[in-house]
Amino acid sequence: MPEDKQKLWREVLSPLYWDEAGKVVMLDQRLLPTREVWQSYTTTEEVVEAIREMVIRGAPAIGCAAAMAVALGARSLPDEPAAFREGFVRICALVAGARPTAVNLKWAVGRQRRVLEQTIGGGVAAARAALEESALAIWHEDIGFCRAIGKVGAELIPDGARVLTHCNAGALATGGYGTALGVIRGAVESGKRVRVYADETRPFLQGARLTAWELARSGIDVTVIPDNTAGALMQRGEIDCVVVGSDRIARNGDVANKIGTYTVAVLARQHKLPFYVAAPRSTIDLAMPDGKGIPIEERPAREVTHVGETQLVPEGVKVRNIAFDVTPRELVTAIVTEVGIARPPSESTIQRLFDTTLV
Ligand code: MRU
Repeated sequence: MPEDKQKLWREVLSPLYWDEAGKVVMLDQRLLPTREVWQSYTTTEEVVEAIREMVIRGAPAIGCAAAMAVALGARSLPDEPAAFREGFVRICALVAGARPTAVNLKWAVGRQRRVLEQTIGGGVAAARAALEESALAIWHEDIGFCRAIGKVGAELIPDGARVLTHCNAGALATGGYGTALGVIRGAVESGKRVRVYADETRPFLQGARLTAWELARSGIDVTVIPDNTAGALMQRGEIDCVVVGSDRIARNGDVANKIGTYTVAVLARQHKLPFYVAAPRSTIDLAMPDGKGIPIEERPAREVTHVGETQLVPEGVKVRNIAFDVTPRELVTAIVTEVGIARPPSESTIQRLFDTTLV
């Protein structure tokens, strides 16, 4: 790994980078926590497959990978402008369709489409260079947004808090630093003592494998619990608040996130605990009026029936593997973004996040 990328890895655990030789390099998150393996991809199709297979996952991270996948594909499209455009439309559609729920994927592809429109007049070479520059900008901006979310959100976390989180909305799920875990990192960096409870997050175990791995690596106190333990801990008074990330937030404040998030939000309401969602504005889909219209991914049954090679479910038994759920805004105390907080989430508090540069 080049020195500047190593620095980013050390500082913010950035799970991917752009290699100027024409490669997208990503940490294979399927192998964590036991193996740290970086994989190189040289075509759009390979990156799309890596997104589908969860080599990289988490809404902002797949947005960054998507922007890089488009820039990568543009390198090998024909030099003739009409053919280039035709190929560009094809790769954009391929990338945008890699996974359906996280809107960051479509957001990043949309931004690359606009870059093409603004630069193609200067020729195909100029457009290629601009797409690469824009992919890097999306990635670096995301790290900056996460740091800002961390600063804004740190204020919500009391000193000594015991924070429950679900899935992995950390550095590994973003350009680096993290959203929900960014809030926790921000609180820790501001001198607060924080203890984290990480839901293991069946079936893909992003909490047990990834959240635990990155927090332990960063020296932040973390305890993994089976998903069905959260209610009992709240009942015992051992949780002070919940912080999660999101894959798509509708205009009215409904929040799509990893399956099980809704359950945690209901539990938090029952126990009168604040339930916070941390996400960059690229996760807010202003074109989606409410959570009912958010496309929800269903993933392969094997993720439920097996852990690695071990079979857990009898052969032939039916399985549902719904990857995300929608938490209605009524259950969300506040949404934390890089420019401020929507509290309580509503069409007007969310719109305000886009009308202002810093709240
Ligand atoms: O299926 P995944 O691992 O991509 O799901 C990830 C999540 O649900 C995260 O909580 C969400 O993307 C926020 S990441 C900052």
